This record gives sequence, structure tokens and C-alpha cells, in this order.
Amino acid sequence: MTVLDSMVPTAENPPAHSLRIGPHAVDPPVVLAPMAGITNVAFRRLCREYGAGLYVCEMITSRALVERHPQTMQMITFDADEHPRSMQLYGVDPVTMGEAVRMIVAEDLADHVDMNFGCPVPKVTRKGGGSALPYKRRLFEDIVTAAVRAAEPAGIPVTVKFRIGIDDDT
Ligand SMILES: Cc1cc2nc3c(=O)[nH]c(=O)nc-3n(C[C@H](O)[C@H](O)[C@H](O)COP(=O)(O)O)c2cc1C
Repeated sequence: MTVLDSMVPTAENPPAHSLRIGPHAVDPPVVLAPMAGITNVAFRRLCREYGAGLYVCEMITSRALVERHPQTMQMITFDADEHPRSMQLYGVDPVTMGEAVRMIVAEDLADHVDMNFGCPVPKVTRKGGGSALPYKRRLFEDIVTAAVRAAEPAGIPVTVKFRIGIDDDT
């Protein structure tokens, strides 16, 4: 039996709960995890042949997007039939995050924005970024608010990927 076979609903194996992200039904409720350097357009095209519900692109640094770095502009490529186009952003600054999402809306670059606050690499968390950022609640709130405000007019849903804590006590 393959993983896909095991997802076919039967009496013993009832359908999984549905997942909805704003206007997008994620069916089946299976998400390809964003992976920097891996989940590029070609990899997602291959994965789509096997039928998950949502495929998140490689992590995009909000500043690099706003500054239109050529490599970043290539990384935000989606196939014409890819829907929803799910873009993951990384950022530590509300202003830049807001600008990045406004750019996504104005230039119709994606249908879903996910923000990455899950990076556990000590080099990043030591500076208060990545998975340590939600601990700074005011900054976290400001970044999320900036993204949601910018996405709202276009009806683009915003999600956040984060860890349940930064250590065993927190
Ligand atoms: C090579 C690699 C790159 C990753 N890059 C990202 C990333 O850019 N953004 C992100 O949110 N998570 C990233 N992750 C974490 C994965 O999305 C996922 O959360 C993690 O691998 C745990 O899932 P698993 O238990 O199925 O491996 C990465 C993981 C791997 C292995």
C-alpha cells in the first residue's frame, strides 16, 4: 500500500478533516513543507504529480524581494497551472514585511503568504530571529499585522509557521 492508497477514504479509514486556508480548500489536507534550496518550481511540479493539497515555495527573504534581487525574482516563479501559489516569506522587520506583501498584491505574485518563524539555527536565533522572534511579542505582532493589513485588500490569506516554544521552559 502506498501513502496515497492509505488516503483513500474507506469505512475503516474515514476521510481526513478538511483544511481551508482563507478561500483555498487544501484537499487533500496535505502540505509540502517549505524547504529552502529544494521546493523550487521544478520540485513542486514533480510533487504535484502525486497530488497533495498545498505546495509551499522556497523561503523568500522579504528584504531581497522588496529590493528585487535577481536570484530572488527567479525563486518566486510559479507554474501557470499552480494554484494556490503559496509563497513563504522570512523577515524580522514589520515595514519590510508590509512592503513585500504589498508588492505581492500589486504584482499578483502569490495567492497565499506563509511567514516563517520556525528557523532553529543558533546563528539566527541568537540574534532574536527565526524561531526566537515570536518570543518578542510586540515585534511579532507588528510583523504579522503588517503582513495581514497588506494582504487583506486582495483577500490573500496569511499563515505563520512557528514552533511551540524556544526551549523546554518557554
Ligand atoms: C533542507 C531543508 C530546508 C528547510 N527549509 C525550510 C524553510 O525554508 N522554511 C521553513 O519553514 N521550514 C524549512 N524547513 C523545515 C521543514 O519545512 C519542516 O518543517 C521540517 O523538515 C520538519 O518536517 P519533517 O519532520 O517532515 O522533516 C526545511 C527543512 C529542510 C530539511
